[in-house]
Amino acid sequence: MKDLSFSIDEIRSQFPILKRTVNGKKLVYFDNGASSQKPQCVIDIINNYYCNENANIHRGVHFLSQEATTNYENARETIQHYIHAKESCEIIFTRGGTDSINLVATSFGETLQKGDEILISFMEHHSNIVPWQMLCERKELVLKVIPIHSTGELNIEAFENLLSEKTKLLAITHVSNTLGTINPVNYLIKKAHTVGAKVLLDGAQSIQHFPINVQELDCDFFAFSGHKVFGPTGVGVLYGKKELLESIPPYQGGGDMISKVTFDKTTYNELPHKFEAGTPHISGGIALGKAFEFLNNLDSEAVIQHERALLAYAEEKLMQIDGLKIIGNSKHKASVISFIIDGIHPFDVGTLLDKQGIAVRTGHHCTQPLMDFFQIPGTIRASFAMYNTLEEIDIFIAALQRSIDMLK
Ligand code: ALA
Repeated sequence: MKDLSFSIDEIRSQFPILKRTVNGKKLVYFDNGASSQKPQCVIDIINNYYCNENANIHRGVHFLSQEATTNYENARETIQHYIHAKESCEIIFTRGGTDSINLVATSFGETLQKGDEILISFMEHHSNIVPWQMLCERKELVLKVIPIHSTGELNIEAFENLLSEKTKLLAITHVSNTLGTINPVNYLIKKAHTVGAKVLLDGAQSIQHFPINVQELDCDFFAFSGHKVFGPTGVGVLYGKKELLESIPPYQGGGDMISKVTFDKTTYNELPHKFEAGTPHISGGIALGKAFEFLNNLDSEAVIQHERALLAYAEEKLMQIDGLKIIGNSKHKASVISFIIDGIHPFDVGTLLDKQGIAVRTGHHCTQPLMDFFQIPGTIRASFAMYNTLEEIDIFIAALQRSIDMLK
């Protein structure tokens, strides 16, 4: 039964860390783009796993191993249902979003030929740039980059011009971690498919903000991290369409991913195990399933409205500060705001905010080409989650003004 009344107090009470103080002040955590906090149910399930259930999975005839296997596979199904994948074998557990993208670059990349093209955009995180550069070097492929407008929106005309029969993959972020831009992925996916290109969506910054339906999106791959969606670090997911995953070679070799091994030849296990060599992060996978159960109990529309209100309120207040410029003014934005202040280095602002108990991220946010595009060294970034409040934004704005007064 969903809790249709969005109670911010009730939500906050489930995140123990939000009660703590930092530097003598009540913590205001606005660094959710880097990592989200964990609800008590996620923390408890990790604790319970190591207290009561710890055993290796897919291997043992004994009770604990079977119980751990069942819980791990149930988590996979929870994630399958959350993102509306057709089958649970399309959910591959990885080490994180970066690992998911590297899996595609290695395995799907192996099927590409010299001269084939991969299309990314100017607003990609390094994790959706560097694996493709490495692949292009290895296989003599061509990397093409879709430019953006100064608003932080994708240049759609340029995308259409760059797309051709040579394009084998469009690898693009769903939401920019730095700008908050929500890309028009439905259109991009449809268009890429018209030339036969596959599409990988980097969902690291979208899945924590709004529901995902991979079948409706019709993306070929969808990659995300566990820790940004209220789960633990060290675990992530790659969704891939079954036929596609079946048609590409494995990522890593080892135990669990095999069907039969001889010194002459090895045959591989069926999905999803073919892509999951070695003992995985078992408690991580189980806890990530729990994080999605937590999300399942919330009214997603209420979460979207709440985060929209946070974004609008913060933007309105920030724009009243002298010399402050917001970087990224897309019409469609997730609750992420990057900004710079005339004559003040982002690092200095971040340090003074921290002294006042406020956590933001400063720097290039692993998007150096994007910083080059805007000709800035970095930004100050406030990224909100559903447990943040308008009162916290008031505290942040007052602290920011105090910091600017000290630095000017
Ligand atoms: N990719 C993470 C961020 O945007 C770490 O902060």
